[in-house]
Amino acid sequence: MTSTAPIGVFDSGLGGISVVRELRQTLPNEHVVYFGDSAHAPYGTKTPERVRELSFSIVDQFMSQGVKAIVIACNTATSAAVDDLRKAYDIPIIGMEPALKLACDRGQGKPQRVIVAATPLTLREHKFSALMERFQAGHDIHPQPCPDLVSIVEHGQLDDDERVMSTLHRFFDQYDMEKTDSVVLGCTHFVFYRDYFRKLLPETAAIIDGNAGTIRHLREVLESRDALAPKDQIGSVAISNSDSSERIHTLSIDLLNRD
Ligand code: SIN
Repeated sequence: MTSTAPIGVFDSGLGGISVVRELRQTLPNEHVVYFGDSAHAPYGTKTPERVRELSFSIVDQFMSQGVKAIVIACNTATSAAVDDLRKAYDIPIIGMEPALKLACDRGQGKPQRVIVAATPLTLREHKFSALMERFQAGHDIHPQPCPDLVSIVEHGQLDDDERVMSTLHRFFDQYDMEKTDSVVLGCTHFVFYRDYFRKLLPETAAIIDGNAGTIRHLREVLESRDALAPKDQIGSVAISNSDSSERIHTLSIDLLNRD
């Protein structure tokens, strides 16, 4: 494995760009090749078999580009495919999972009321049931599927306040947000909604995503293999997408650079 080789990052579409932003900040010397599968988004309402098939085809493509590691910047693809991908490829493959541990630990022993927002498939898969088993005894945890939040990002409607807020109200009005300790963003698309979630929650509540933890883990894995990029390498990000329209390209760049 050459340390100067790129890291492949993929998602069902544009959500994984939030992970690339984190990667760029933490590991600025790395070259990143990002693949968004917007032509097939959303993954969260597909069968696990179909998501595995799509993930394998993306990873094959990364392997032919000579990547040194892969980040599955998609909770849904991780849930459905990470175990099989790791068996099939001899390369570090880092996945994502809803950061439920962080949310529960925040209470320092006190029971926490947590909403986990994710896709229907992520919440149905075994990985999430195993997470629930670890934490549900001591806490009040509410898994909430939010498929529409993926399509709003994919359609470039993130700045349509009215549409976003009415969608959030539809999913979250059933909860007493004043009594909620945290919302876990269990889908990388949802990270772009932080400011909107903030409007629904009391100041004391946390909005938690898994991006920083995932990139920390990536750094540890690369470090342990002596595969971090040289300090004098100027990192880069190359974005491609299965939807080759100008609209998706412009949207990707906008999401990469927005505040
Ligand atoms: C989706 O395509 O449904 C969202 C993927 C994710 O879980 O990040």
